[in-house]
Amino acid sequence: MIDVSYLDKIIQKVKQVVEKSKEEIYGLSENARQEYERAKRELEQVKTEIKEIIEEVDRLEKEYIKARIRLVEVSRNFRLFKEEDIKNAYEEAHSKQIELINKREKEKLLRNTREHLQRYLKNLEMTIKRSEELIINISMVIKILNNELSTLSDKIGELQQFQALGLSVITAQEEERKRIAREIHDGPAQSLANIVMRAEYILKLMEVNPSLVKDELLTLMELVRKSLADVRKIIFDLRPMSLDDLGLIPALRRYIEQFTKNYGIFVELTVLGKEYALDSTLAIAIFRIIQESLNNVRKYAGATEVVVKLEYLPDRINGTIRDNGCGFDVEKVLADKEGTAFGIMGMRERVQLLKGKFEIRSKIGRGTEVMFFIPVKKDNKSGGN
Ligand SMILES: Nc1ncnc2c1ncn2[C@@H]1O[C@H](COP(=O)(O)OP(=O)(O)OP(=O)(O)O)[C@@H](O)[C@H]1O
Ligand SMILES: [Mg+2]
Repeated sequence: MIDVSYLDKIIQKVKQVVEKSKEEIYGLSENARQEYERAKRELEQVKTEIKEIIEEVDRLEKEYIKARIRLVEVSRNFRLFKEEDIKNAYEEAHSKQIELINKREKEKLLRNTREHLQRYLKNLEMTIKRSEELIINISMVIKILNNELSTLSDKIGELQQFQALGLSVITAQEEERKRIAREIHDGPAQSLANIVMRAEYILKLMEVNPSLVKDELLTLMELVRKSLADVRKIIFDLRPMSLDDLGLIPALRRYIEQFTKNYGIFVELTVLGKEYALDSTLAIAIFRIIQESLNNVRKYAGATEVVVKLEYLPDRINGTIRDNGCGFDVEKVLADKEGTAFGIMGMRERVQLLKGKFEIRSKIGRGTEVMFFIPVKKDNKSGGN
């Protein structure tokens, strides 16, 4: 059997883990957002730098061209210029060239960085979107853990209660058997042993001293009487109902009278056919079916009137219990309460065990009718066991 408190513990654990994951995802998504902002600023920076460097490259190109022209001019008319001028022009052109190469290289680098940053930002955007989705999913999981799963553990608890109920019924029966066995052992069994002993003693006494026999017999009778009372008491405890003493119909009348008095629901009992004594198993079954049906009427029907009809046919007993209450959707209720409609299931099982037929007809707003028949065998009609 699953321990429900253990299950609850597991659910709590899972909930903690999921909550923690949620926080972690929050943290991650927050980081991603900050990183996104940072990369965006960096990208802006790089873009301005690119703009600047393009301008610079343009400027340098112009200067470099100018320096080249100057160099060509100086070297063509080198006689007109001093050696130093020529050298200067040469160096100027050369340095401009180097500078230009450097700047172009830097421009290329910056463009690379820009591309890289743009890709990076796209990825970050996806990460942020994914983490938002994850947060939604995880919130849903938490909701399920809070609602559905906690009712699940309730449900399992309920089921287990049912199991326990079934078990406790069996245990109760077992206890009852033990108690009865003990009672018979302590009471009638000992008395009977005692009676046998005394009877043997009386037999001897008849040979030895017959005058004492009468007194001994009286004591013995007293013992027998007491044992009989013990046995009757045990039997009465076993069947507190008046069913065996009174017979089915009087016992039913008595029960119905009490029922009407207690709950103010009028019950009419009609008996058709010629009444005969029934096997006690059968009588008990019929009594229990009527009892359970009336209990259901009291609990659910809101009826004012019930008609109980019993028909004694030569080979079977027909019974109906009809109320004028709210009625119900039998199939739906039995499907919904599968395994829990113990009342109706119990009635049906009893009847099936006795090889009879059981049926409930009900219409919403039109009351309910419980119907059964139970076959009566010839040897069952003789009035019990
Ligand atoms: N006479 C009736 N009128 C209206 N509804 C009924 C009637 N008899 C039974 N029902 C419906 O059928 C359901 C099943 O009845 P059933 O006797 O099997 O179980 P229960 O009475 O709910 O529980 P239990 O009998 O085990 O105490 C009831 O819960 C009720 O909804
Ligand atoms: Mg019931």
